[in-house]
Amino acid sequence: MVREDLTVGLGGRAYPIVIGREELIPRDLLEGRSFFSDRCVVITNRTVDKIYGDRLRDAIAASGRSVSSFVIEDGERFKNQETLSSIYDFLIGHRVDRSATIVALGGGVVGDVAGFAAATYQRGVSLVQIPTTLLSQVDSSVGGKTAINHPLGKNMIGAFYQPKLVVIATETLSTLPEREFIAGLAEVIKYGLIMDRDFFSWLECNSEALLAREPESIAYAIRKSCSCKADIVAKDETETGVRALLNYGHTFGHAIEAGLGFGAWLHGEAVAAGMVLATRLSSLNGDVSEDDLARVVGLLERVGLPVKAPGLGVDRYLDLMGYDKKVQNGKMRLVLLKEIGSAYVTSEFSSVSLNEVLVEIDH
Ligand code: NAD
Ligand code: GLY
Repeated sequence: MVREDLTVGLGGRAYPIVIGREELIPRDLLEGRSFFSDRCVVITNRTVDKIYGDRLRDAIAASGRSVSSFVIEDGERFKNQETLSSIYDFLIGHRVDRSATIVALGGGVVGDVAGFAAATYQRGVSLVQIPTTLLSQVDSSVGGKTAINHPLGKNMIGAFYQPKLVVIATETLSTLPEREFIAGLAEVIKYGLIMDRDFFSWLECNSEALLAREPESIAYAIRKSCSCKADIVAKDETETGVRALLNYGHTFGHAIEAGLGFGAWLHGEAVAAGMVLATRLSSLNGDVSEDDLARVVGLLERVGLPVKAPGLGVDRYLDLMGYDKKVQNGKMRLVLLKEIGSAYVTSEFSSVSLNEVLVEIDH
């Protein structure tokens, strides 16, 4: 596969997404000082460190830079204030200064928490994202959202902070557990649903190749997803408008994650069940056809994602959904579909229909 680069077009803060196969950092990116300073701090977790830590540190050291690393615990439940504090302790304790580069190696949890540390440590140090899960390669490493969770709500504390570079080595997916790989497909399918009907059809035709992790299909799905995300982020970096579409299914999904306790369901699994609820609501709203609804449920089911949300009770769902960051002046806003490939944000949905969708969960 030839290396393919995309750009997140943010003017003076534009940065490349380099999509390759094996190299965690292609050598040319280590030439000069464009992306990496003389001192690099790799932040990763135990699992990823064991598989890829040495390879990355060796590549950085071979370029003549100093490299140290800080390893966090593995799991969504560690995406919290305590882990963040432990990163600050490490950086301050090791006298890391503002000229350093933080390199986030891992999935979305590592990327989000290391990204938030980079955004806030000494008011901001350079950040490079090296995502190693499908979900982080197609979504979380791109676009500059960084955050930690609060016990009451997902990603409640965070910052928009763009990396200088994103490097995707698709080969890292070969070691990813099946359940994690499938969870990542939820965010891939999301792009088809919100903005690209043809891509959704492509996913329907290629779901088996993706599940078999056929390299060309995976590379195409990643490239297409990153290109959708880069387009949206370039138009609306801080989510004042169109970027909210990327949260399709997430208001329900975040409620599921918080309601069950972070880590019980994977983020992608919660988003999948959330997208089914959002599509049902869109259908009750008179937009999405029965045929499109069946296609959405069918594809999610075929790749092994949950299509039935857990029963938390209607009141609990509504309470948790009220913490969503799209809430404005106390009013809930949801992303809904007109049809597959076209989404919009609205506060003008029928609360009766929302209730109906939530009541159905328990039947
Ligand atoms: P994760 O970071 O927990 O990684 C999943 C699991 O895979 C972990 O156990 C990890 O150790 C392991 N792992 C990672 N890479 C591996 C590899 N190559 N081989 C073997 N094991 C590997 O989960 P995730 O799905 O990557 O990310 C989910 C997080 O991303 C959530 O917290 C979610 O809120 C966040 N997110 C953020 C954004 C954003 O825009 N910032 C977007 C979507 C999701
Ligand atoms: N995953 C949502 C966003 O990046 O905006």
